[in-house]
Amino acid sequence: MSRLIVVSNRTPGKGPAAGGLAVALRKTLSEREGFWFGWSGRLVEQPEREARFEDIDGLSVAQLDLTRDDHHDYYAGFSNSILWPSFHLRLDLATIEAHWYEGYRRVNVQFARALLPLLKPDDVIWVHDYHLIPLASELRNLGARNRIGFYLHIPFPTSDALYAIPHHNDLMRDLSRYDLVGMQARRDVAAFTEFADHQSPSSLSGNPLKTVDFSRTEVDSFPIGSDPHAFAKLSVSPAATKMVKRMERVLREQKLILGVDRLDYSKGLPQRVEAYEKLLANNARFRRHVHMLQVAPPSRDTIKEYQETSDALDAMCGRVMGRFAEPDWQPLTYVKRAYGQPSLAGLYRLAKVALVTPLRDGMNLVAHEYIGSQNPADPGVLVLSRFAGAAEIFDGAIEVNPFDTDETAEALRIALDMPLDERIARWTSLMAAAREHNVEAWAARFLDRLAPATTAGSGTRDI
Ligand code: G6P
Repeated sequence: MSRLIVVSNRTPGKGPAAGGLAVALRKTLSEREGFWFGWSGRLVEQPEREARFEDIDGLSVAQLDLTRDDHHDYYAGFSNSILWPSFHLRLDLATIEAHWYEGYRRVNVQFARALLPLLKPDDVIWVHDYHLIPLASELRNLGARNRIGFYLHIPFPTSDALYAIPHHNDLMRDLSRYDLVGMQARRDVAAFTEFADHQSPSSLSGNPLKTVDFSRTEVDSFPIGSDPHAFAKLSVSPAATKMVKRMERVLREQKLILGVDRLDYSKGLPQRVEAYEKLLANNARFRRHVHMLQVAPPSRDTIKEYQETSDALDAMCGRVMGRFAEPDWQPLTYVKRAYGQPSLAGLYRLAKVALVTPLRDGMNLVAHEYIGSQNPADPGVLVLSRFAGAAEIFDGAIEVNPFDTDETAEALRIALDMPLDERIARWTSLMAAAREHNVEAWAARFLDRLAPATTAGSGTRDI
């Protein structure tokens, strides 16, 4: 079987998302004797052009340093101040600075130049996420003829939002140079198809040369998952139990409502706290009997919009505390720090309700992890945004419109009052979906489509 090369901005051990992906791909990578390629996490004045190999927990990882300026324009600039807000339909939060695009392309060229000499002709390359959309183009410009797949972990934007992105046509042409483009949800594929179908010469551009030819690129949805069995085990591990005991001492008889999210404006955190406020305002019987815990590790905090989200959440939590707290009862706890998976698994198991209410999200793995961690005899309830990719696979959740805080407050009430038999029925369906969409099956399905064992590495494409 041909080698597999995984490419992402962050490499394993260098960030939260890379952590989840690494768990998913570790086994496949070692079976296929491949390596992981990405940014080293280091900013230096004069980076080497070649990547350095490092063994990270048995995984072979090739890493490239970047200059501070290149990294800024590529990561904080084009990737996270233009692509991220636009793909999440938050054009109001996008900042456009023209020169960031050059930095974005420059880093993709550096990645391609450093990766190319490490490639064998029949290697299969799997590129991850919006930081690296141009990578296949740049590799192909340098002569690579490998099978190259791309997976977008975040939602694909509607056409209007896409048109607001500078150089969107170049980016779409870059996508057309992959053999396979994978997205989280059917809604993302539909948005992509709408763009592809409506950019005919007769419609927007009026110029056939501007039309992107997608005829050689397969596009499909591959909803990512977690490892629900691992979470089931983790949730009763000693480390998880320690966290449960700590919390139980504080909670006593109160029911725990839990949110776990990076501190990002796409997660709808102020709206979520407002919904909780409405629950307490509309249903006095819950006061002193529930407690909300929001875990929100800071993220991308050099970017102004992230600082503002953090401030908005501080204000919202303060408001709820001031309005409802009593000397001997706090309605909520809000922690701005990251916890390890064992502690989270414990919190998931303890929580009677998980509030997973992003305004827009590629998939949302917290939903998967929560389901995996439940006690089958007494499971909690998942309140899930209809704008998370997860909503396409989890019928057993209570689905909400996160912009409508009255609806979310009512969903919370229903979740807290839900009888055991309904909770078990819903969780059984959720767990079946989480199992079906487990992360190993996801990777296998994508890689099978990208390069079926019989044809992998034929290298016959003429580009
Ligand atoms: C999302 C993105 C990932 C990213 C992660 C953490 O999940 O899809 O590509 O790694 O957020 O964000 P960060 O900017 O810290 O890498």
